[in-house]
Amino acid sequence: MPTTCVVGILWGDEGKGKVIDYLAAEADFVVRYGGGHNAGHTLILPSGKLVLHLIPSGIVHPHTRNVIGNGVVVDPLHLCTEIDTLRARGLAVEPGGNLLISERAHVILDAHRRQDHWAEGVRRGGRLGTTGRGIGPAYSDRCSRIGLRLGDLLRPDHLRRAVQGLAEQKNAWFAPVGLEPIDVEAAVAQLLAAGDRLRAGIVDCGAVLRRAHAQGQRILLEGAQGCLLDLEHGTYPFVTSSHASTGGAFSGTGLPPHAMRVVGIAKAYATRVGEGPFPTELREATGDRLREAGREYGSTTGRPRRCGWFDTVAVRYAGAVSGAGELVLTNLDVLRGFAPLRLAVAYRLADGTRTTEFPAFDLDAAVPEFEDLPGFTEDVREVRRFDDLPPAARAYVQAIERHTGLPIRTISVGPGRDQIILR
Ligand code: IMP
Repeated sequence: MPTTCVVGILWGDEGKGKVIDYLAAEADFVVRYGGGHNAGHTLILPSGKLVLHLIPSGIVHPHTRNVIGNGVVVDPLHLCTEIDTLRARGLAVEPGGNLLISERAHVILDAHRRQDHWAEGVRRGGRLGTTGRGIGPAYSDRCSRIGLRLGDLLRPDHLRRAVQGLAEQKNAWFAPVGLEPIDVEAAVAQLLAAGDRLRAGIVDCGAVLRRAHAQGQRILLEGAQGCLLDLEHGTYPFVTSSHASTGGAFSGTGLPPHAMRVVGIAKAYATRVGEGPFPTELREATGDRLREAGREYGSTTGRPRRCGWFDTVAVRYAGAVSGAGELVLTNLDVLRGFAPLRLAVAYRLADGTRTTEFPAFDLDAAVPEFEDLPGFTEDVREVRRFDDLPPAARAYVQAIERHTGLPIRTISVGPGRDQIILR
């Protein structure tokens, strides 16, 4: 297996957890490179459903080492809780053993969470619909060069100074807007306690990964969120604060750019959580039907996901930006009984022009032009060969390939590990 990056193509929730779990069987390392515990990667194991937020999905495979890269923002208290939850499910999670955390990864504090909630309330132009986990404020502090890094948790004197510096900057404006200020001593005590628990795992992960790559070990990079939530390439400002697309796989791990297989994951329809433009959104009964059929509720926040038709304009753009060489199509089974199946193939913009390019501005005014295809009524959850799919389902998959230019070799037809069609 060459170094492989699995990336969500639209706005997250494409089923990356299942695909990573499948590929992780052959990986030596599974590495998260961005985001934080705003992600929710769902795995269906023989023992039942498991949702991972921060710990890489390879943790369920005894032979993989799991790395939280420097591009991730880590709430150390959440990480300790997630470790406890997994252990209670019978999984071995050993910092320094099968779990490594970059000493360069930045820390999310309670204060970041408070700031996130506060910012949603006062943002000009309305809410972004963030997950409220403090992601944006933690990344902002990283850019402002006042953030704390995981390695600071192992250096008490340095940590105290760093928290004092951060508190000086933040408390100066927290108090006037009514935000609870940072209590330096309480924060330091909490962080030192978490650092003690995680100590063996907090290392220079970039060096570990570069060495592993040089030795030909198999590295699987686990994208979080999706390309259209990428800070640079997504539907700004309705994005997350990290480089969710493939670019983040280098900056967020310390691996140098080198030949990499990029696998884009897309659902057989589109969904989005939170605010922001979504050209193919179904705002009426069909959208509700799709939400119920696909159980489209956020795995981190439980919020209902907005649902819509597959958008080949957006997917082609995200495929190009991410360098995806192929698409894995998930949730094909959910489309059973929907007819016609609609594919957006172009947009009509506000000024009347027709485009097949994904625009950086005015996406909320873009009206999709659809190609309609016949639906299928058969249950496809037990199908394991492409040729055994109903003709309409095959034609739908082939139309997506034609419009996006991306081959589809893997199709998921249910949440279970074995519910997969390989072409
Ligand atoms: P934040 O990442 O919490 O700042 O949220 C910014 C936007 O990204 C919001 O629209 C969230 O709903 C969305 N978002 C963040 N993480 C995920 C995810 O894992 N799946 C889907 N949407 C996400």
